[in-house]
Amino acid sequence: MNTLTVALGDRSYPIHIGSRILADQQLLIPHIKGNQVLIVTNETVAPLYLEKAQSALGNFETETVILPDGEKYKTLEITRRIFTHLLEKHFNRTATLIALGGGVVGDITGFAAACYQRGVNFIQIPTTLLAQVDSSVGGKTGVNHPLGKNMIGAFHQPQCVITDIDTLNTLDNRQLNAGIAEIIKYGLIRDYEFFEWLEDNIEKLIQRDKDALIYAINRSCMNKAEVVAADEKESGQRALLNLGHTFGHAIETGTGYGTWLHGEAIASGMLMAADLSARHGWLSSHELARIKSILLRASLPTGTPAELSAQQFLDLMSVDKKVLAGKLRFVLLKAIGKSFVTEEFEQSHLEELLNETPGINSADLKIRND
Ligand code: NAD
Ligand code: GLY
Repeated sequence: MNTLTVALGDRSYPIHIGSRILADQQLLIPHIKGNQVLIVTNETVAPLYLEKAQSALGNFETETVILPDGEKYKTLEITRRIFTHLLEKHFNRTATLIALGGGVVGDITGFAAACYQRGVNFIQIPTTLLAQVDSSVGGKTGVNHPLGKNMIGAFHQPQCVITDIDTLNTLDNRQLNAGIAEIIKYGLIRDYEFFEWLEDNIEKLIQRDKDALIYAINRSCMNKAEVVAADEKESGQRALLNLGHTFGHAIETGTGYGTWLHGEAIASGMLMAADLSARHGWLSSHELARIKSILLRASLPTGTPAELSAQQFLDLMSVDKKVLAGKLRFVLLKAIGKSFVTEEFEQSHLEELLNETPGINSADLKIRND
């Protein structure tokens, strides 16, 4: 097992990454505050891993909330179920919430923990690759609104993250590949050497080689932990973690939450950001081709939803959190491994990009992973 630290002073916390650690009491119990524990999971993950997670809690009395499965349930209405359970069972301010599941469960549970009685402790046990390399780390929590993705939320750091890579054995290929998109992101924004490693090893990740997975999860979390420690609340460099997100969130909102997986939308968005960079002459066409190639090798989308027009895209992007004083801002690339945030781009290049990116039928996304 490897342990990394997210260095945030007296709110620092460990990320444990390993195999067969889900039921390990020594990793979990020291982070439980008080004696009231609520595990939040969903109807898919519960039959697979709830019992194991409960066994890691020894003699603690635990309550469980099992949510419906899906991005479309990442809402305030569903979060309310957690609040209701906590209140009905008289949970107090020393309660600990445990998120057992993918990024949806993690984001909702973290948000509930941030709000319940103005903030209680929580622990992340991520069970998708995407959650293990990204969403469980860094304290961004929240839910979607029909008008915009992740628009209601709070920063609230967990007490610890426990990543058992064996949970990936039950994840389907499409979800695994969506997680690989976020792994590729770290190479693109700040870690060229990692990108080269990915070019050499992407097939090993797809084939779920354990050593490759552990290496990639570690390296991704190291990158994320460094960025979060330097800029927890995203006043500067943390924005780089949003490469592809302005486009990606527009795709997720515009197609209906859950039609495109988050990682798929980010893959498409990252290629659009790279393409926009190339259209300005900031990124070479050779590097753009390398980015497209690695996404294709992971069966990730390299086009946009056929049903979204350029104008719809522009309208959807205008509600993005990165819009400042009415101006769109993008994370773009100067090279693979060198990203920057800018609002100085040519509108004509953006419009050409939106008009020229090939359309993909959303129904084909599933097929390409079968
Ligand atoms: P998800 O949570 O919907 O999980 C994907 C699917 O896999 C679900 O059907 C889930 O039930 C299932 N699943 C989970 N673990 C499983 C397992 N071990 N075996 C079999 N099935 C399993 O999606 P995700 O990709 O994990 O997360 C996406 C969400 O994360 C989005 O809402 C996105 O906005 C959010 N996110 C947040 C951050 C952050 O910093 N907070 C960062 C990136 C993404
Ligand atoms: N996924 C972007 C962030 O955590 O900042």
